[in-house]
Amino acid sequence: MAQKIPTEATMEKIVSLCRRRGFIFPSSDIYGGLSSCWDYGPLGVELKNNIKQAWWRAVVQQRGDMVGLDTSILMHPQVWTASGHLEGFSDPLVECKSCHLRWRSTDLEADNCPACGGELTEPRQFNLMFRTSMGPVEDEASTVYLRPETAQGIFVNFQNVLDTTRKKLPFGIAQIGKSFRNEITTGNFIFRSREFEQMEIEYFVKPGTDEHWFNYWLDERLNWYLELGIKRQHLRRRQHTKGELAHYARSCYDIEYRFPMGWSELEGIANRGDFDLRQHAKFSGKSLEYFDDETKEHYVPYIIEPSAGADRSTLAFLVDAYDEEQDKDEVRVVLRLHPALAPFKAAVLPLSRRPALVEVAQQIYADLRQCWMVGYDDAQSIGRRYRRQDEIGTPFCITVDFQSLEDNQVTIRERDSMNQIRVPISELKTILAAKLSGEDLATQPLWTTKG
Ligand code: GAP
Repeated sequence: MAQKIPTEATMEKIVSLCRRRGFIFPSSDIYGGLSSCWDYGPLGVELKNNIKQAWWRAVVQQRGDMVGLDTSILMHPQVWTASGHLEGFSDPLVECKSCHLRWRSTDLEADNCPACGGELTEPRQFNLMFRTSMGPVEDEASTVYLRPETAQGIFVNFQNVLDTTRKKLPFGIAQIGKSFRNEITTGNFIFRSREFEQMEIEYFVKPGTDEHWFNYWLDERLNWYLELGIKRQHLRRRQHTKGELAHYARSCYDIEYRFPMGWSELEGIANRGDFDLRQHAKFSGKSLEYFDDETKEHYVPYIIEPSAGADRSTLAFLVDAYDEEQDKDEVRVVLRLHPALAPFKAAVLPLSRRPALVEVAQQIYADLRQCWMVGYDDAQSIGRRYRRQDEIGTPFCITVDFQSLEDNQVTIRERDSMNQIRVPISELKTILAAKLSGEDLATQPLWTTKG
């Protein structure tokens, strides 16, 4: 019987697991990596896609008041003047007069350079947007920016969405996409990088109802993390002080997660008021007012914005799922990922490489692949293979043994409890589907529990 041992998912353990098992690699690894950019490997891309899909399902598919968008990363340069990013999206930068390293002054605890103790310059504002040029001529007129948030693509499409969907307030628009920030200080693995993915909702409401919807989304978003398995004690809400508020926000709460380096922002929920629509109306000259059929009023909607990071969520789900337990003389590393997020839903393991077993195992593998991402492993002992699947969070292992050739049954071994049940191959898909959706089949009479 496995014994729980007190474990801390340190960042070193997470980074090492991610690299070793193909979740996340440094970008341009063979060239020594590129600071604060990351590549998602075969398992990482599955995990991150599953997180994005779970988000989309919860905030678009399962709701009647939301639609999706996928807007371009490069936008008209006026967007960033109107949004205030050109003027105000900056951090206070200080430089060490000795070693010339640069720091965000708000990250520093002392007055001197953390690297060499040297004297620091006075802070100056450093704009975080990446600039590039559009077209063959590089001049001021061709300057465009890589978007620092996906939100602006939603605001500038507000009228397009209204015209084509005929949605009534309150309603929201969701988008998942890349954003870029030339962060002064990065680090903590994928927590803060210069290229990252956001999952943003802009929810348009009638002014005066914004408080209600703000609280509603704060609860909704917190519950989303809980439903996908994040432990309650690892999440909290924190209200922004006046000094912290972004230039567009009337109020803001962070949902914070207890990351290995301490409590830090996982998602921000902001009340952006009518700032963005008013600014875009002013700069574009197009009215972005809403006509309320019921009250016959024209007004500019207020916007509630739950803005999450796909990479930060990936890190939080990895950290929260990481577990170690003593199993006989070994430490079993288990990623207790929610089945909806696990990269592989199952792995097929023939007990040996004997052709008769491989044939059955391959047939099962091909069949299950039609429904889910499924792994296959026939290298080394079955115990080692279970450990490998535990470590990447595969909820179920399906073992094909010699008895399977006689009785057309296989063993399903569960990641968390390590319990095993024997099931007919003909029922495997149905049983797996039920198990993946959370049904406890050990209590059902059709199958026998082995251990
Ligand atoms: N549209 C609002 C907005 O962008 P934000 O608090 O700056 O608000 C929202 O960003 C979320 O995007 C954060 O909670 C975080 O999850 C993610 N995020 C922001 N900057 C990031 C970075 N440099 N690296 C990774 N994720 C980041």
